[in-house]
Amino acid sequence: MDKTTSIHGMWSSRLMFILAATGSAVGLGNIWRFPYMTSDNGGGAFVLVYLGCILLVGLPILMAEILIGRHGRVSPINTFRKLARESGVSRHWVAIGWIGIVAGILILSFYSVVAGWTLHYAFLYVKQLAGGAAITDPGATFAALLADPLELTFWHALFMLLTVAVVALGVEKGLERAVRFLMPALFLLLMMLVVYGMTTGFMGQAAAFLFKPDWTVITGGTFLSAMGQAFFTLSLGMCTMMTYGAYLPREGVSIGRVGIAVALTDTSVALLAGLAIFPIVLSFGIDPAGGGPGLIFTSLPLAFETMPFGIVYGLAFFGLLAVAAWTSSISLLEPATAFLVERFGMASRKRAALGIAGLSWLLGLLSVLSLNLWSGVRILDRDIMTFIEFIANDLMLPLGGLLIALFAGWALNRTILREQLSDMPPVLFTTWRWLMRVVAPALVLIVLVRAVV
Ligand code: PHE
Repeated sequence: MDKTTSIHGMWSSRLMFILAATGSAVGLGNIWRFPYMTSDNGGGAFVLVYLGCILLVGLPILMAEILIGRHGRVSPINTFRKLARESGVSRHWVAIGWIGIVAGILILSFYSVVAGWTLHYAFLYVKQLAGGAAITDPGATFAALLADPLELTFWHALFMLLTVAVVALGVEKGLERAVRFLMPALFLLLMMLVVYGMTTGFMGQAAAFLFKPDWTVITGGTFLSAMGQAFFTLSLGMCTMMTYGAYLPREGVSIGRVGIAVALTDTSVALLAGLAIFPIVLSFGIDPAGGGPGLIFTSLPLAFETMPFGIVYGLAFFGLLAVAAWTSSISLLEPATAFLVERFGMASRKRAALGIAGLSWLLGLLSVLSLNLWSGVRILDRDIMTFIEFIANDLMLPLGGLLIALFAGWALNRTILREQLSDMPPVLFTTWRWLMRVVAPALVLIVLVRAVV
């Protein structure tokens, strides 16, 4: 029988869980990464493959993570230990927990650097409001930021401290407070940007770029990128959702429903971000293809400088984007922190969070340097930051997800599954189970193998 509470605290309601899980899912992945990945991978075809990955692989694995977490009630490593024992299967499944912890530390390292960019931009608009210079050449402004290791390190450090502060406070006091108001505000702001996009006269062209697939530009790499993006944006494959599931009350909460709610919101925000950004990109005559990681930083400021109240808007946008990144970064840090807390006792939550974040911050310096002093260093044809991103997002997350699917589909006792998904109609339950057993693992495997060979 599973326990009803976790030692780390519990979400105070179902809504709080949905907000926290959405807060984790919605972040830089949707607003920074999705548009430029779409741009770099040729538009519509990438978007379609991505949506397919969300539906067939992402959503079912999201449910699996939440249910495994809610049954286990402890951090991922200990959860796998416990569930493997209960189901009488090999304890080597614990490896999934370790992959998750390593992936989390790697992702947090560059995530915090990019979140630092958004803080820097928010600050640029604060300065502008106080009479500072306008951003007349966003390309140059962005290049100047990347060229300055000290500036990058400062914002990276500030963002990491913000992340630690919340995680150190724990579930009820820290995580919940941060997500309650700020997520809806970001959503509203994106909607307003889409409306602005409509006034540019380029909405039709932007929609065509996003939704009209051009299959000629598709390669094996496109599938890998789309799969990696699906995992990244839903915070899957590294046991984040599992950890949040461990704090989810049992009574009256349907895992199927909350899973759908989170996946739908996350996907809508990504598509909205695309619909907000590409009209602006097109209306300023920027080529929508091959925008790279700087895409939103070099395009949106053009609009903010010309639209009414654009400076206030720019401040609100980058400020809220930093907040969205914040509610995601805390979920990157939580699994490893929870594990250390279990290992060394409750009193050490602050130290645990600080230790993991410190390690991640140090690793982040590699990303900082790869943007300037070490920009010539190449690993597998990528700079250091892109390489870390590739290993963690495109390889480790899908691999973790694949193993989670197999664990839920084959190793875990059917009674446990049925108990956790008790409200799911039998047909859906069977469908879900076969998605876990065969479809999702096969798809991930094909994509991984095709990309490597
Ligand atoms: N889903 C987050 C985003 O889109 C990133 C993330 C990945 C968070 C993995 C937690 C775990 O920004």
